Amino acid sequence: MAKTSLCLVPILCQFLGLQAALLDSLLNQSTIYYLKSSGDVALENVDQLASVESVKLIVHGYLGSRTHGSIMPLRNAYTAQGYENVLVADWGPVANLDYPSSRLAVKKVSSILAKLLEEFLQRHGISLERVHVIGHSLGAHIAGRIGRYFNGSLGRVTGLDPALPLFSSRSDDSLHSNAALFVDVIHTDYPLFGDIRPRGTVDFYPNFGLAPQPGCENVDVVAASKLLHEAFAVTIVLSCFSPNQLECLRIFQRFPAAWRPLKVGVLRTA
Ligand SMILES: *[C@@H]1O[C@H](CO)[C@@H](O)[C@H](O)[C@H]1NC(C)=O
Ligand SMILES: *[C@@H]1O[C@H](CO)[C@@H](O)[C@H](O)[C@H]1NC(C)=O
Repeated sequence: MAKTSLCLVPILCQFLGLQAALLDSLLNQSTIYYLKSSGDVALENVDQLASVESVKLIVHGYLGSRTHGSIMPLRNAYTAQGYENVLVADWGPVANLDYPSSRLAVKKVSSILAKLLEEFLQRHGISLERVHVIGHSLGAHIAGRIGRYFNGSLGRVTGLDPALPLFSSRSDDSLHSNAALFVDVIHTDYPLFGDIRPRGTVDFYPNFGLAPQPGCENVDVVAASKLLHEAFAVTIVLSCFSPNQLECLRIFQRFPAAWRPLKVGVLRTA
């Protein structure tokens, strides 16, 4: 960042240098945990897997952490369904800086997380199409970048309210439909914090994607994202081939969708 050759105000440059070092040390704390009933285990310490059928990686958003209320419903929904390999990224130290700093760190955080994931997949011989990365807010863009790290070969990336501020449609570190074989995006927070632009293979716009969503009229980012997560958690818990077809119908009615041609023939929903 601060190039010594350009340093006209030494004390300022020293400050910027310190800032860069501090950011580096915060970035280096980004890591991935494996959820076990006994607690969260650092990914590099997981040596035996019961199954390599599927891997879910959840990435929290701005101001979050792996135990933040905004992502607990998702964690709980996947574990309640008996998914074996549920991973949760924690980039909390960087996510809790000011927004522009967190946003600028998206590429670096993604690269650190992608390498940890790659090492885990290789060590356990898990193929890329079995991997599903789910990201919320800034985490949705991180999920997209993780997908790009694997050259779009992961099975699925899901973006929950990709963050809007300081992203343009051209930002190369933002979520796009080339992030994975299948990319689904749910928009519920435009124009507050969430983007409205189609970013996936399929984009869903509950209540036209506009904030505030019913039940979230008091603008509260945390409550809003909690509702979204609960809605998404419901869509995965209630498989829509359940006996309760009426409930399924209601979910579909509330989720108007924009479709792009699918890149692949096989659509894996799990
Ligand atoms: C962060 O990690 C990188 C790569 O491992 C290392 O080169 C760097 O010294 C670390 N920075 C800090 C501040 O720990
Ligand atoms: C993605 O593609 C690049 C360029 O072909 C290659 O160097 C890199 O190893 C690929 N990454 C993965 C994770 O396969």
